[in-house]
Amino acid sequence: MQVELQDIHKFFGPVKANAGISLQFEGSKVYGLLGENGAGKSTLMKILSGYQPADRGQIILDSKPTYFVSPANALTQGIGMVYQDPLDIPPLRVIDNYLLAKDKKLILNYQAAKKEMKDLLSKYNFDVDPDYLIESLSLGQRQQLELVRLLSGGAELLILDEPTTGISAEQKEVLFDSIRRLAYDEGKTVILVSHKLDEVQELCDYAYVLRQGKLVGGIKVPCPNERLVEMMFGQIPVREVRPDHELGKTVLELKNLSIETPRLTVQNINLEVKSGEVFGLAGLEGSGQKLLLQACAGLLRPSQGNLLLQDEEITNWSYHHRQQAGVAYLAAGRLEEGLVAGLSITEHIVLAQPKHDFLVDWRAARDITTERIKTYQIVGRPDSTADQLSGGNQQRLLFSLLNSPLKLLLLEHPTRGLDIRSTDWIWGLLNERRKDGTAILFMSADLDEVIERSDRIAVLSGGVMSRIVNAKETTVDELGHLIGGQA
Ligand SMILES: Nc1ncnc2c1ncn2[C@@H]1O[C@H](COP(=O)(O)OP(=O)(O)OP(=O)(O)O)[C@@H](O)[C@H]1O
Ligand SMILES: [Mg+2]
Repeated sequence: MQVELQDIHKFFGPVKANAGISLQFEGSKVYGLLGENGAGKSTLMKILSGYQPADRGQIILDSKPTYFVSPANALTQGIGMVYQDPLDIPPLRVIDNYLLAKDKKLILNYQAAKKEMKDLLSKYNFDVDPDYLIESLSLGQRQQLELVRLLSGGAELLILDEPTTGISAEQKEVLFDSIRRLAYDEGKTVILVSHKLDEVQELCDYAYVLRQGKLVGGIKVPCPNERLVEMMFGQIPVREVRPDHELGKTVLELKNLSIETPRLTVQNINLEVKSGEVFGLAGLEGSGQKLLLQACAGLLRPSQGNLLLQDEEITNWSYHHRQQAGVAYLAAGRLEEGLVAGLSITEHIVLAQPKHDFLVDWRAARDITTERIKTYQIVGRPDSTADQLSGGNQQRLLFSLLNSPLKLLLLEHPTRGLDIRSTDWIWGLLNERRKDGTAILFMSADLDEVIERSDRIAVLSGGVMSRIVNAKETTVDELGHLIGGQA
């Protein structure tokens, strides 16, 4: 299928998310769509997939101008998109979600649909059980389910918006295999929206780059990384070297801590994080890092062992009690756990204030909001709601909600979905907090990030912690081995 976007415009109030973009896509090719946070990638792809209309411009399929009224309508014309934030409906079973997308007549033939779905799943080596509830699936599995649903609906062009964020390395390999197969064996077009240059270089044939709502250009890949970076930012951003830093007294101490959940038991964890220290947790998704952070935050009760904050026993303290004592937790699920989709930036700032008066002083709140928007360089207005912000700007908003000073900061994937420049900027903020003595415990799926940003690192594998390594003395290879469970 030949797909052409002509002069696409989309404005949100004063924000020119897409300002006259023209692009072409052909079959049997994998395209990268690159650009810094807020460049307009998701907006453009949501237009191409019928999720929202353009203000101006045209979509042309095989030389025919087309108009989509909904994603379902776009799918009937061969275009399907897996969104950045999964849009499926959690209380359903996998099979029911699949059937939702099907022709009404097929619903009568439940068994046949189930078989068809199973066949598709196994064809691409996807591992999803049709009888499971969607809410019990991992992000990677939801994505596999969504892909299969789109394929069965007849998608010829597949758009994947930052698909490797938050899925395991194994799921990523499976996904990449299926993408190659869809493009090269089945003649489909795949568009990969991503910040990860390595992935674009590895997987794509051609990359388009957007900046501030406009197309900068297209380039054949692989190509030198610097070329892509330059196109994305207009220049090559200077990388800050991580400042050396004197560590202080122990802030957080875990003694023989165990956490039991139906899926995984985290066993006998002993570790200390010092004032001003950045402690990284590495491991496959679901190996216990998140449980550990949640136990430190007071969101999960350990089954055994002790937690100490500056030598004070806090094992039985509630989340709010710990918050008041200077502990903060930043969750990865931006629109699920961290932010409230329909609330504005101002409302978020009000909610995050440490003390609440009976009446909210909205004028004061607006002033604080304006200042935070400036300091945290959030592209948005005080009344923009969280779901209107681009992924990167949602992350900035989360950081702007953290109070100061903090004793302990617990972070789950702090830079997930951020471009290189925003990532450096966030770590700049975190390094400032280190200077104030904040102890930082974080988890990340990006081993380079763990090594580059941490003082010390622990690897979790199946709920068991390996020895603690010094970040300066380890390598991605060594961590990779520890993650695989080989000490
Ligand atoms: N529904 C909306 N209402 C208001 N503003 C919006 C809406 N959707 C997007 N925007 C704004 O349009 C701009 C482009 O956003 P978009 O989500 O397309 O960026 P992106 O390139 O996908 O960024 P990221 O890499 O952070 O996901 C941003 O400034 C964003 O805040
Ligand atoms: Mg986006």
